[in-house]
Amino acid sequence: MGYKVAVVGATGAVGREMLTTLAERDFPATEVVALASEKSAGTEVSYGEDKTLKVQNLATYDFKGTDIALFSAGGSISEKYAPIAAAAGCVAIDNSSHFRMDPDVPLVVPEVNADAVSRYGKRNIIANPNCSTAQLVVALKPLHDLAKIKRVVVSTYQSVSGAGKEGMDELFSQTRAIYVNDPVENTQFTKQIAFNVIPHIDKFMDDGATKEEWKMTSEVKKILDPAIELVAMCVRVPVFIGHAESVFIETEKPLSVEEARDAMQDFPGLVVVDHRADEGYVTPHECAGEDAVYVSRVRQDPTVKNGLIFWCVSDNLRKGAALNAVQIAETLVKNHLEKAA
Ligand code: A2P
Repeated sequence: MGYKVAVVGATGAVGREMLTTLAERDFPATEVVALASEKSAGTEVSYGEDKTLKVQNLATYDFKGTDIALFSAGGSISEKYAPIAAAAGCVAIDNSSHFRMDPDVPLVVPEVNADAVSRYGKRNIIANPNCSTAQLVVALKPLHDLAKIKRVVVSTYQSVSGAGKEGMDELFSQTRAIYVNDPVENTQFTKQIAFNVIPHIDKFMDDGATKEEWKMTSEVKKILDPAIELVAMCVRVPVFIGHAESVFIETEKPLSVEEARDAMQDFPGLVVVDHRADEGYVTPHECAGEDAVYVSRVRQDPTVKNGLIFWCVSDNLRKGAALNAVQIAETLVKNHLEKAA
């Protein structure tokens, strides 16, 4: 059976990756529709190796007859159009943060909580987590199953593509400006991002945390376990693609480095590269364009009773966004839509 699939935000960094991922994974689509703003209507985007799609205007698109829509055009667009798509009988898989904490909307990373997809029918909307959360919960899940994680301390090193194609353009143009002695302008980030790091992603909350940090705490609780305490420091770094995280966990039961490595290596979507040698770890540069979440630098934390430290990297446009959304669509089709048909 085939499905009509729409990609909302098809001209953006994540939207383009969604189209690539749908084609690469042979998603059972009879038709794929590319949607963006009125200004992009009529332009073309690539779909697979040799096809192009003509972009249509989201504002005038009729979702009736479309089975699944993958949204990545920002929170306000999702807020307005995901319910319109849902009311027309289309399941919206939303990459924005808008619906993530809605109790009637499942928040899903298929390797971790695929069963939650079964609750999609309440609003016909399924939420995709924040990019930093998606890779983190994949790494945490096998350790939680083994030794029950009590507390997580995480610092992130997040690439500019997390802020969309305009964020990538800003890193490029600032870098160029510095080399040719032009004035440096920031419009997408609060400070210069080229040759710098910025400890500020999304707006500030009352307690001094940023919304990005709050999202990691609340989303890990919703996806993995509400009992886990998590505190994050989220930092934007001058990398185009690939988020890195240094992760410190405390578990209820003791967990050796070998047990942790073995469990992570056996977990779907997770690859351990940990050789304690010059090139024996993975960096964002190497994981760009890859589907897996990579774990390196696993070691004991000697400062707490049951503590473990590791490094985790993944392509934020893939597992952090497009791939996870397509995996949710695959789960939906396999476990729910096909059975209902
Ligand atoms: P457009 O290129 O037509 O503005 P990114 O996150 O990489 O910045 O991409 C944002 C995506 O969201 C783009 O595809 C963009 O389309 C789309 N988008 C932004 N505003 C709207 C809108 N008002 N209606 C439909 N799509 C929008």
